[in-house]
Amino acid sequence: MPVHALNRTTFGDPKNAGKLMSLEEAHALLNEWVPNERLRLHMKQVAAVMKAWALEKENADETTALKWELAGLLHDADWEKYPDDHCRIIIEELERRQIDPDIIRCIASHGPRYFGVEPVSTMDKMIYAFDELSGFVHAAALIRPTKYEGMDVKSVLKKLKTPSFASQVSRDDIADAISRIDYSLEEIIDFIILHQQEVV
Ligand SMILES: [Fe+2]
Repeated sequence: MPVHALNRTTFGDPKNAGKLMSLEEAHALLNEWVPNERLRLHMKQVAAVMKAWALEKENADETTALKWELAGLLHDADWEKYPDDHCRIIIEELERRQIDPDIIRCIASHGPRYFGVEPVSTMDKMIYAFDELSGFVHAAALIRPTKYEGMDVKSVLKKLKTPSFASQVSRDDIADAISRIDYSLEEIIDFIILHQQEVV
C-alpha cells in the first residue's frame, strides 16, 4: 500500500471534544470524496459494525455511539482520491472542521503498520480489528450463492487460511489487531456477519 507514516502523535484539539459532525455531513463528504461505490459500502459497513459494538458491548450513549459510527464512516474517505497521502488528508480535513479529537485519533490508528500510530482507546482498537475483517467477510459473502444468509464463522476462518482468497487482506494485521483486544477472532467475525449484512 503506497501510504506513509503520519509522523505525529497528537491529533485534533482537546477543546473540540464533543464536537461531532452530523451523519448527513459525513455522508455528503463521502459522496464527494469517494466516487467508488464499493469503497463507500466498505466504510458504511465498518460504521454499522462500530456503532453496533459501541451500543451493545461498550454501553455507549447515543453521542458516543455516533463517534464510533463517524470514525468508521470516514476512516478511508481519502483513500480513493489521495492514495499516496491516505489518512493524512482526512485527518487534516477533520482537524480543519474542528471535530472531536477521539474520532481523528481513531482514524489515524486504523493501520498502525502503515500510519505509525498505535491504537490506544477501545474505539481505536476496535476499528483496527474490524477494518480488514469487515472487508474480508464481505468478500466471502459475495461469492456465496445466498450471500450472507446462512453464513457461518467456520467458513470465514477456512477462507482466512486460504492465502489465495482475498490475498490483499493482511492476515498478519488481523492477528495483530485481535491480539490487542479481549475478544476472539471468532467472536469478531460473528459480530461482523450479524451486523453488516443489512448495510447497502
Ligand atoms: Fe478500511
